Amino acid sequence: MDVAWITQDFPAIAQAEIETLAGKSAKQNGDLVFVEASLKGLEKRLAFTKATYTLLFSCTKKGMQKAFEAHDWKITKDFRVTTSRSPLPAPLLGHFIKTKSGKQVNLHTPTNHVMVFGRDKIHVCQLHGENDSQFEERRGRNRPAKHPTTMHPKLARAMVNLTGIKKGTFVDPMCGSGGLLLEAALLGFTCEGVDIDSRLLAKAQQNLQYFGVSSKLTKADSTKLNKKLSHVALDLPYGRGTTRKDLEKTYQAMISMLGRNLKGKAAIMYPHWADVPALVKKAGLSVCYELEAYSHRLLTRKIVIAKR
Ligand SMILES: C[S@@+](CC[C@H](N)C(=O)[O-])C[C@H]1O[C@@H](n2cnc3c(N)ncnc32)[C@H](O)[C@@H]1O
Repeated sequence: MDVAWITQDFPAIAQAEIETLAGKSAKQNGDLVFVEASLKGLEKRLAFTKATYTLLFSCTKKGMQKAFEAHDWKITKDFRVTTSRSPLPAPLLGHFIKTKSGKQVNLHTPTNHVMVFGRDKIHVCQLHGENDSQFEERRGRNRPAKHPTTMHPKLARAMVNLTGIKKGTFVDPMCGSGGLLLEAALLGFTCEGVDIDSRLLAKAQQNLQYFGVSSKLTKADSTKLNKKLSHVALDLPYGRGTTRKDLEKTYQAMISMLGRNLKGKAAIMYPHWADVPALVKKAGLSVCYELEAYSHRLLTRKIVIAKR
C-alpha cells in the first residue's frame, strides 16, 4: 500500500489525479491518500501531492511504542524520522528504530526517511520522494507574455494529469497563452495547441520558449477540428463582453467536436453556470469525474473529465 501526502488546496482533485495516474481507486483520510498501487516517482508529476510513501504499518496511539519495537526495520544505511501531529516525538521514535535496527540517525542526508502521520490512528511510512516542481516560478505574472485568464500552473498540471497521459500527444484546442501546454511540455510530452486568436498563439510561443520547451501551435477554430485526439485539456473561454448565450454555443460546439474525435480522456474546465457534464453526455461521451476547482467572487470554475 502506498500513501500520498496531499496539499489542502483541492483534496478531491488531488485524489482524482492520483487515481488517474495510479490506475486504481484510492481512499482519502485527511491529508493522506491511500492506494493499492506504487506511487514511486509520481510525486514528480502530481500537482497537489507534497510527497509519496510506502506504508510500513499503521497502529494506535496506545500501541505505538510496541509497534515500533516489533517492526522489522529494513534500514539500508542510516535514517531520519519526521513526524506530523505524532503523539510521540521524533527523537524518541528514532531511538526505538536505532535500538531495533542497529542503524544510525542521519538528519541531513539519510538513505531512509521514516515519516509518522497521525494523532490517534498512526501511519508509519517510508518516503519515496518529494514534489520539487517549481510551480510559483511559472505563475502568470512570472511569464514574459502575460494573460489574465491563464490558470495557476498547479491547476494546469493537475488538468494534464487528469487526461491520464503517459505517452502520446497532448492537445489543448483552446490554448490561449499556453499555460496547459507549458505543464504538459515540461513533463516531456509532445504538445499541440490550437487557438482562434493569433495574438494569443504568439504569447504561447513566447512563454513556451522562455521555459525551454516547444509545442506545435495552429491558428484555427477548433470546433471544426477533424482528427483523433487522445489526451485533451482545455479551459473554456469565459468572455467578458460575450453573452452567456454565445458562450454556451461555443461550449456546445467544442464538446460536440470532442464527441466526434476523442479517443481517450479530456479534462474540461468550465464556469459553474454552464451544464458542461450534460453536453459531454449528449455528445456520446461518459463522465469520469466532476470536480470543483476554485472560486472568485462571481465565478466558480468546475472540471469535468470526459472519456470515450
Ligand atoms: C480561457 S482561455 C484559455 C487559457 C489557456 N488554457 C491558458 O492556460 O493560458 C480560452 C481560449 O479559447 C480561445 N477560443 C475561443 N473560441 C475558440 C475556438 N472556437 N477555437 C479555438 N480557440 C478558441 C480564446 O481565444 C482563448 O484564448
